Amino acid sequence: TEPLRVALAGIGTVGAGVIRLIDANRELIARRAGRAIEIVAVSARDRGKDRGVDIARFDWIDDSTALARHSRADVVVELVGGADGPALALARATLEAGKSFVTANKAMIAHHGLELAGAAEAAGTALKFEAAVAGGIPVIKGLREGAAANEIARVYGILNGTCNFILSKMEAEGRDFADVLGEAQRLGFAEADPTFDIDGVDAAHKLSILASLAFGTKPAFGDVATSGVRHVLAADIAEAAALGYRIRLLGIAESNAAGLFQRVHPHLVPLDHPLAHVSGSLNAVVAEGNFVGRLFFQGAGAGDGPTASAVVADLIDIARGEFGPPYAMPADSLLAQPGADTGDR
Ligand code: NDP
Ligand code: HSE
Repeated sequence: TEPLRVALAGIGTVGAGVIRLIDANRELIARRAGRAIEIVAVSARDRGKDRGVDIARFDWIDDSTALARHSRADVVVELVGGADGPALALARATLEAGKSFVTANKAMIAHHGLELAGAAEAAGTALKFEAAVAGGIPVIKGLREGAAANEIARVYGILNGTCNFILSKMEAEGRDFADVLGEAQRLGFAEADPTFDIDGVDAAHKLSILASLAFGTKPAFGDVATSGVRHVLAADIAEAAALGYRIRLLGIAESNAAGLFQRVHPHLVPLDHPLAHVSGSLNAVVAEGNFVGRLFFQGAGAGDGPTASAVVADLIDIARGEFGPPYAMPADSLLAQPGADTGDR
């Protein structure tokens, strides 16, 4: 059988992680995917940078958009980041070229996910973004496929590893905000622009994706009432602890007769709630379904290995020809009936 040939844009924290994972688990992946998964071409800004992985064996492409037309690549993986710019150009070019597209880019999916899903559906290819929400936790699959039989009332959780790392370390080790943020950046958890993390924007991107899947609406990032952790003080954390709470940055989306409400903000979580015990860069997502009850997904929300794990899981699905629903839950018909769901409800 022919291998699934991959062109990879972005060889930073996650991109290098994908190369390491495919190298380390090559045989296992081939067995489970039914064929080998092989990177054939890569692109980034600086060809000479030492990335701790051997990239000399791949074709080097200067202009990432050109990966879409690489003659040997069946699928493109985008790990550059940014809602627009080169990531979006590459997504559009890839789907136009009739190839499948995998991304960890929540900013782009929150803003352009439906357009891209429409292009993928028209082209008969896959758009996959498991890594875009909650890093290594298979929450897109869990929600979209595992909870597909349920009416979902609420989806919420800890959606940003950097903020959770900061809040946890400030509490457990008495360290100051800037110091812990610096460590999160060194560990590769933070966004290229860390204000996206600390101001709640990254969590809002992820929440708008989760809400759109859970409720069958268009992702409505602009409707998320958002505030971050920038102003949380050590004294706030100590006061919360004295009262039996932990401060956690939560994203909460709920649908009721009055509409769909989405918000991201620091929240007092009582110590007897499982979210109070999600620490460090872990994430957790809770979904409440009318038959399944409360689902609780927990795991590593950021970092090279966990995020690469979700990216390569998407590649395995594609290798097996299992493209999944183009965007929403099966037949939730965001694409089949354009305009049916406005995201305003
Ligand atoms: P990095 O900043 O570590 O890596 C980004 C890569 O993209 C680098 O290789 C960089 O090149 C390349 N790049 C940047 N700008 C351009 C450009 N204009 N043209 C071509 N290449 C470019 O980011 P991450 O690996 O951390 O994140 C990648 C994506 O994954 C983002 O969308 C992020 O939000 C998402 N994500 C990240 C997670 C994490 O834990 N880090 C977890 C889940 C999702 P060079 O190396 O030469 O500078
Ligand atoms: N910057 C993000 C976070 C990466 O800290 O959660 C994972 O999406």
